[in-house]
Amino acid sequence: MPSADHALKIAIDRHEAAPIYLQICERFKTAIAAGHLKPGDRVPALRGLATQLNIARGTVETAYTILVDEGYLQMRGAAGTFVSSSLPEAATPSGARKDRERGNAPRTARATRAEPAAEIGHDAKPLRPGLPALDAFPRKVWSRLVAHRARSGDLATLAYPDPAGYRPLRERIATYLGLSRGVACDPQQVFVTNGYRATLELVLRGLAKPEDRAWFEEPGYLLARNFLLDAGMRLVPVPTDDEGLDVDAGIALAADARFAFVTPAHQSPLGVTLSLARRMKLLDWASRAQGWIVEDDYDSEFRYAGRPLPALKSLDRDDRVIYCGTFSKVLFPGLRLSYVVAPGRAVERFGQVTASMNAGSPYLYQAAVADFIAQGHFARHLKRMRALYAQRREWLATAIQKAFGDRVSIGLPTGGMHLVAIFRADRDGPVDDLAMAARAREAGLAVLALSAWYLNGRSKETLRGIVVGFANVADAGEAARLARMLRRAYDG
Ligand SMILES: Cc1ncc(COP(=O)(O)O)c(C=O)c1O
Repeated sequence: MPSADHALKIAIDRHEAAPIYLQICERFKTAIAAGHLKPGDRVPALRGLATQLNIARGTVETAYTILVDEGYLQMRGAAGTFVSSSLPEAATPSGARKDRERGNAPRTARATRAEPAAEIGHDAKPLRPGLPALDAFPRKVWSRLVAHRARSGDLATLAYPDPAGYRPLRERIATYLGLSRGVACDPQQVFVTNGYRATLELVLRGLAKPEDRAWFEEPGYLLARNFLLDAGMRLVPVPTDDEGLDVDAGIALAADARFAFVTPAHQSPLGVTLSLARRMKLLDWASRAQGWIVEDDYDSEFRYAGRPLPALKSLDRDDRVIYCGTFSKVLFPGLRLSYVVAPGRAVERFGQVTASMNAGSPYLYQAAVADFIAQGHFARHLKRMRALYAQRREWLATAIQKAFGDRVSIGLPTGGMHLVAIFRADRDGPVDDLAMAARAREAGLAVLALSAWYLNGRSKETLRGIVVGFANVADAGEAARLARMLRRAYDG
């Protein structure tokens, strides 16, 4: 039986920001990618490696569990633990070579992209998180406004649009943010973009340096995470709890990070609100570290208990917060319109970057959105959606609870358009939510596994569950039918 015990040199660095179990994962993956460990090789026993490294056995166990979950290792009971005989392509020496040729250094976080964007998809399948109620959008009013602008005959509207955005829309956004989110800004600071990832691209091109480190909520928004990793940002996963991002943990992990990406109003995906104490601490950290806080305020308009909280940006005395909003939730995502409020000291830089990216969004839709807001349709639509979503949220939460009984725990979200159903561990241990979500997707539902939102991959602490959107659930009957489909996927 080939054994790698003698060949494998694992060294950990207690000063490194990454936790020790992640360092162990990384060392194994590197050894496998380099061919030092081959399929079928036996790896050191838990106790042996723990003694060798002078660390707790549980730490090695956490690392091995992640490596097993990700397909690198196989546990074969008393026979020991082995390098998997069917390694993922990217893990093999040839896969790693291809990765290097593409300029990608191997990274733990890269290997945890269990649900890449392609699998998540983008269509309007039932339960898709983040998709607003398409059936309730006032399409007639919208078509009228678009048609009116299209007929205007103004030749200037056929020229290149202003890359920073259509001025009247920037003005409307600035006024709306002042009134509804407590964000005092000048229209000059508002840049219209084509979705949150385009906003991030603008932010990174404007302010980031190669190899910058950034705090990222753990668990956190899957698509932004993948985008930032692809852009070369070194993400430091910072745990979140029932007060939102744990700022002290962030400081302990990487006090000198340059960015913190946060969803303060409605944490994505867990739905908690960043407490006032944490907000103040986060702002304080940013001032001291001269860092930037990227506030992703994607769905704060939908709050079902009390008024929406003011944005974090409203407390920003030191001009450190980059406020990001989107029309994807409050109108519809096919529009591809979003915006970012540049801190005063970064306005000029954002202007240069937007001009050089030659961005700019179609005049027609920007003008129609400006009209939609100016004529009061926007405020009316939001009011109607708040009532509708509160009802749909209730239907789906009740139906899932009924279909799953005490196998899941569901906190009724106080805001947003999705809910998280957390699976209780069963007799065999934690539920494999990735497999469950994959079965649900095969059955036609657009469900995401909660553990996939963790940058650190799956460990004992990782919550298992599903993230489901409730905005398009038409009635209680449909909610019950979808919940039964979920239950079938859960049962396998
Ligand atoms: C956490 C989060 N941020 C931002 C967005 C908005 O993305 P976009 O503006 O690209 O539609 C979403 C959409 O689902 C989201 O879930």
